[in-house]
Amino acid sequence: MASPSAAVRKEAADIRVQPINGFIGAEISGIDLARPLSEGQFKIVHDALVRYEVIVMRDQDITIDQQMAFGKLFGELSIHPFSPNLADKPEVIILDYSKDNPPALTDIWHADETFREAPPMATILRAKVVPEIGGDTLFSSMSAAYRGLSERMKQHIHGMETLHDFKPWRPLFGANDRPKLRKLEDDFPNPWHPVVAVHPVSGRRILYVNQQFCVRIKDLKTDESDTLLAFLYRQATVPEYQLRVKWRPNTLVMWDNRSVLHYAAHDYYPARRTMERVTVKGQRPKGVEGPYSPDTIEANGAVKPAIAEGTRPGPKRAFDRY
Ligand SMILES: [Fe+2]
Repeated sequence: MASPSAAVRKEAADIRVQPINGFIGAEISGIDLARPLSEGQFKIVHDALVRYEVIVMRDQDITIDQQMAFGKLFGELSIHPFSPNLADKPEVIILDYSKDNPPALTDIWHADETFREAPPMATILRAKVVPEIGGDTLFSSMSAAYRGLSERMKQHIHGMETLHDFKPWRPLFGANDRPKLRKLEDDFPNPWHPVVAVHPVSGRRILYVNQQFCVRIKDLKTDESDTLLAFLYRQATVPEYQLRVKWRPNTLVMWDNRSVLHYAAHDYYPARRTMERVTVKGQRPKGVEGPYSPDTIEANGAVKPAIAEGTRPGPKRAFDRY
């Protein structure tokens, strides 16, 4: 009988973690989520999520219970405050868009539920019905976006905070839903989140703003806030920071909601696209403590850089572009 370490080595040999782009994304193969993961397998998947921020697993023909069980390995599942969910499994959201039910307002760069004090740490989405053409999801690494800023801009935004609100969803509450909306505002008061957050596992700094939920930066005049936010939002659009996932039925994607933004391309209407979503509870985002100091996380070795020091073409070119 193989010793535990040999068993762990075999699991590691079976799993392949293949980076997709220079700054974000890895495809994981050699794993079947229909079966419970061992501790060793889970560690590989968890570390890949933190390191690559988005992990793609193809051909996962699993039940929603198996998807939930996979999510629970990372922590307690979270329940969306107002999105329609399954009656007997409130942690599950079924996204089912078609001719009669146009896609929701998710064709905008965002992280999920940052209007909450403690947004989900990760989202797990599995495709069921995929349109023949279109319906990709785009991701953008906001840790790469932070690294791409000039040292002077990093100093400028250090310590800033942004107000987050579920603003695009407010019109969903009609005149008769005022009490419901009021209760939601009481239960989920608008949080101030740091503009630069520190990833609780990797220690990487993250440009933690998104166009869908950010309202304004504290202590700035409206024009100053709008102008700076527009610049910061634009960082998500830099191609080098991005990953574009083409779905197939049974493709499962998990993203680190603490460090990436995503954008659902609405180019498939009126075709049908069906996904099942679960989220894992997260913590309140924390900013960089104390006065500004340059990011030393890579020098500390807490996380290996995606690309070796001195050979990072993305941020340099991105900086020049603007
Ligand atoms: Fe989303």
